[in-house]
Amino acid sequence: MESYAIQLTPAAEKYGNLNISQCGKDFFPSDVFGSSSKKSGLGVPITLEVEGLPNPVLTDIPKDITGKPRWIFRERNWVKQFIRLNNLVSGHTVTISRLGKRKYKIGYNNNGSKITEKEPVKTKHKTTKKLLDIDYNRTCDCQGNKINCLTAKEWLKCQLGVWQFSYTKRDVRDKKIHPATFPVSLAIKVIELFSHKGELILDPFAGSSTTLLAAQDTGRNAVGFDLKKEYVSFSTNRLKKNEGLFADTKQIVIQDDARKIADYLPESSVKCLFTSPPYANLLNRKRKNKSRRDRKNEQLGKVEQYSQDPRDLGTMALEEYTKAMGDIFENLLPALVPKGHCVINIPDMWWENQRITLHVSLIQELRKRGYELRNVIIWDRTNLVNGIGIFGWPSNYITMGVTFEYLLDFWRPPS
Ligand SMILES: C[S@@+](CC[C@H](N)C(=O)[O-])C[C@H]1O[C@@H](n2cnc3c(N)ncnc32)[C@H](O)[C@@H]1O
Repeated sequence: MESYAIQLTPAAEKYGNLNISQCGKDFFPSDVFGSSSKKSGLGVPITLEVEGLPNPVLTDIPKDITGKPRWIFRERNWVKQFIRLNNLVSGHTVTISRLGKRKYKIGYNNNGSKITEKEPVKTKHKTTKKLLDIDYNRTCDCQGNKINCLTAKEWLKCQLGVWQFSYTKRDVRDKKIHPATFPVSLAIKVIELFSHKGELILDPFAGSSTTLLAAQDTGRNAVGFDLKKEYVSFSTNRLKKNEGLFADTKQIVIQDDARKIADYLPESSVKCLFTSPPYANLLNRKRKNKSRRDRKNEQLGKVEQYSQDPRDLGTMALEEYTKAMGDIFENLLPALVPKGHCVINIPDMWWENQRITLHVSLIQELRKRGYELRNVIIWDRTNLVNGIGIFGWPSNYITMGVTFEYLLDFWRPPS
């Protein structure tokens, strides 16, 4: 996150003049700079979330009469309040960090000690964040603590713990384009359940960008990441074709490792994360089609794995995979808003006659990394299964893995 440390001066204590000159123009949106007096015109305000104050502060930055920024916030009363509440004095360090396009956080770092002349103030500590230019605020009229825009009637329909969907023409069913997609209708249901219009949706393993398409359909902003260039260019075209004439939201697909996502997103910006990650290295082998009636279809003998890139989670054995997932999701947690949902679609698998309980590994790992499990939903896929062959008969009872998958619903705990 880009942030600056500012030394408190007597003028800040006395008049609320917080000297923000070192932040520079690029740190603020260009339209925040208003005229020298309120009467002759304000700039477009930014929001400051100030440590210890109950309400955010809206302010612009005034220019002087020659048209140069005065490098103080026009609203100043809060500065004295902030100083008093946090027991600060001149010489202490205040930090200003950019959380989003128009949102900043004001905190402090006094460590109980003043900064003296011998101990110079560290003025700039820029990180390498390349924050995305994407909105994440509600655009609906919903009030208060509603978690979505659904009516009571629509909500009622979502209460069942077993969900079913069908694929339609818009779904990618061609395994050569992408071997493992979920239906758009599933992504729409998750997004509508856990976000409002205008809010930001994230898919860290976007594949053909079904999640982003659903976000586009439902008026949400979204960002998706995938390692593979082909999937990213397919997704970009798919989203372009689906875009309405008057789109007021953005859906962005980025070719990068999911481990780097935190560099792109401000804190507390993602309202809902929905994804279907790779299933460790369980698909990284030649298909035997054992469970199919017509075993000799075109999938027989194919390896339906996305890539052999060592960063690809689909190349990793279970233990390494679980740790990598833990690392990725731990990094993502600050980007989720408190009580923001993170829904992961995962099946269990059979491997050498052993049931590999991926869903158990993920629940345990994400709990260790600070997530709280809220719901386990079953995606009932029986309506999608056809051509099942007999499997295990007569000595070994094995339920068909393809008949259901898990939707693990976690959230970022409120505190
Ligand atoms: C199960 S697929 C997602 C499919 C998607 N839900 C859809 O409907 O198209 C998982 C995706 O994760 C990608 N992937 C694997 N490792 C990754 C990593 N380290 N960073 C980003 N993407 C990764 C793969 O390329 C693959 O497209």
